[in-house]
Amino acid sequence: MWLFVLFFLGASLFLAVLVWLKNNRRYRSGSSVASAYDKWTEDQLLERLWGDHVHLGYYGNPPRNFDFRQAKVAFVHELVKWSGLERLPPGSRVLDVGCGVGGSARILAKEYGLEVVGISISPAQVKRASALTSEGTSSRFEVMDALDLKFENGSFDAVWGVEVGPHIPDKQLFANELLRVLRPGGVLALADWNRRDAQDGEMTIFERFVMTQLLDQWAHPEFASIWEFRQNLLRSPFCQGVIETDDWTVPTSPSWIESILEGIRRPRAVLGLGPKAFVQAIREVPTILLMMWAFKTGLMQFGVFRIKS
Ligand SMILES: C[S@@+](CC[C@H](N)C(=O)[O-])C[C@H]1O[C@@H](n2cnc3c(N)ncnc32)[C@H](O)[C@@H]1O
Repeated sequence: MWLFVLFFLGASLFLAVLVWLKNNRRYRSGSSVASAYDKWTEDQLLERLWGDHVHLGYYGNPPRNFDFRQAKVAFVHELVKWSGLERLPPGSRVLDVGCGVGGSARILAKEYGLEVVGISISPAQVKRASALTSEGTSSRFEVMDALDLKFENGSFDAVWGVEVGPHIPDKQLFANELLRVLRPGGVLALADWNRRDAQDGEMTIFERFVMTQLLDQWAHPEFASIWEFRQNLLRSPFCQGVIETDDWTVPTSPSWIESILEGIRRPRAVLGLGPKAFVQAIREVPTILLMMWAFKTGLMQFGVFRIKS
């Protein structure tokens, strides 16, 4: 009897992994990223589970224990401080590149008095961001590709971008566009998932397998290393300062396990959306666990980028 149960469980697990491997969301073009985020937004799962911020939380260094949603808000304030955004006077214009459903933009507008334009490649996110933002708030949202920004050179006092880079196939063009629309002397605040630089060790066969999953499961064409993306910024014809970086892997690391625990703490958030959402939530778990492993072992790093003031 037990043998049969074990066999059944093993076979189900094997099938689940096969489905996970086969039904990935491999990057094909900007439209594959847009449709992945449209689905993630329309099924409401991410928002009900993790709130209106689609990024990791900041837990301090060494990390302290606190609520995942609060840690996401803390992340925004920490990046404001680190990048120097807080020194901008109220009314300054900020571009939030890859704005998700506008969680960061609303904080920048409400708590720092900034005028924020958020852009995302996903029409569903822009619709949701606009719906979540009350009238009279100085933030607005548009569908736009970060590789083809429809703004004049130097039209923003600050450029903000959180966890967008991994979806971008051409990192140099991305760096050029971000710095092109930033005015000379403006503030840059970027945070991204980066891979270990090749200079710090080639990937093992197992790491390569993990890396393929991290790319293919969540519509990522490629990760840059912190060193590489800093070079992209420095090489840009619009770069007008010294680019500084830091590694926030440790203060953001509890986010991975927290993102799974949130589903256990708030079962109704998932179950209330029906059986499809439950399957969808379970489907993300292996990728989250691989991300957690990759950040823990140094295969991945959480890079932040600013211009020295
Ligand atoms: C991980 S989410 C981060 C969202 C948001 N920055 C936040 O912190 O809540 C990545 C975001 O990048 C956007 N994105 C990806 N590729 C893009 C592109 N080429 N142009 C504009 N936005 C893009 C996605 O639509 C999504 O909003």
